[in-house]
Amino acid sequence: MLYKIVTLFLLMALAVNAQNNRPIIGILSQPSYSSQGSQYIAASYVKYIESAGARVVPILYDISPQNLKTLFTSINGILLPGGGVDFDSQPVYMQTLQNIWTLVLSANQNGDYFPLWGTCMGFQELLCLADGNFNILSSYDSENYTVPIDFTIQPQTSKLFATAPSEITNILATQPVTMNNHHFGLSPETFANSSTLTSFYRVISDNVDRAGLKFISTIEAYNYPIYGTQWHPEKPLFEWWAQEVMNHSYPSILANYYTALFFVNECRNNQHAFADLASENAALIYNYSPVYNPSGDFVQTYYFNSSN
Ligand SMILES: *[C@@H]1O[C@H](CO)[C@@H](O)[C@H](O)[C@H]1NC(C)=O
Ligand SMILES: *[C@@H]1O[C@H](CO)[C@@H](O)[C@H](O)[C@H]1NC(C)=O
Ligand SMILES: *[C@@H]1O[C@H](CO)[C@@H](O)[C@H](O)[C@H]1NC(C)=O
Repeated sequence: MLYKIVTLFLLMALAVNAQNNRPIIGILSQPSYSSQGSQYIAASYVKYIESAGARVVPILYDISPQNLKTLFTSINGILLPGGGVDFDSQPVYMQTLQNIWTLVLSANQNGDYFPLWGTCMGFQELLCLADGNFNILSSYDSENYTVPIDFTIQPQTSKLFATAPSEITNILATQPVTMNNHHFGLSPETFANSSTLTSFYRVISDNVDRAGLKFISTIEAYNYPIYGTQWHPEKPLFEWWAQEVMNHSYPSILANYYTALFFVNECRNNQHAFADLASENAALIYNYSPVYNPSGDFVQTYYFNSSN
């Protein structure tokens, strides 16, 4: 009897800790103004996720709430990329963003570990969503701007950097490797003024822009597997501009790539799965081909047309 109970507990512990070594991560698309498609995802985000051992499905921003719910139960994490969505004039995008947020929070509240990552605009979205207010951002002079980050806490006391080799956090703290490309950001004062934000997020780093104005640059949620960087870890790895400040040095690639390894590993804790192999295959981004544009904002871009 005791043996049986012990075995049962061991099996339960294994089930809780089981690693899903076939993680699939959703990336949210954005409106595109290209003739190639009405929505896009920069391929650098896809490669960033793929390079760390996961596959990608696009989440078309005009997906119906019902289809989003089904897709959510099939994937193991979501990445909100950078970009330039005008929050005030894109209600369909904003509704899907809000629906993703609600799904992520309620899954985690119910013990269903579901990671969410935001980069640049995605980082700003994480802050606005948690605050319930999309008018909290300020203007900064921080486009095309590669700097070290200023850790505001010991990085190893955060979840994001708890297992990072100190070599990596030293590079981030001392070398110009984090690429910023934003003209909005969140000031530490605005953050400190919102008890909603201060109770939701731990600030891991900040930076000053070219004018010396401070913005928050790395966050994680205290009670959720939600992480964000105002900087672009995918760009030094996968974007190549003719005139650029992306740092492609070995230390930069090592430090930026760490974030992909970390996030994808977080997603290995989630057990969602597609109903069957056919629907998994049909959803994967392999059904699309990226388009090469040597003079564009992105070396390669995936284009989509409406999901309707
Ligand atoms: C890129 O990073 C390397 C190593 O961290 C650093 O030595 C170098 O100065 C950086 N390059 C530029 C152009 O900032
Ligand atoms: C923070 O709150 C104080 C007091 O309400 C206010 O005076 C100040 O303007 C606020 N600052 C920011 C950046 O929101
Ligand atoms: C980015 O900065 C580099 C170095 O300062 C400069 O040569 C380049 O023109 C800038 N590119 C953009 C798109 O602003």
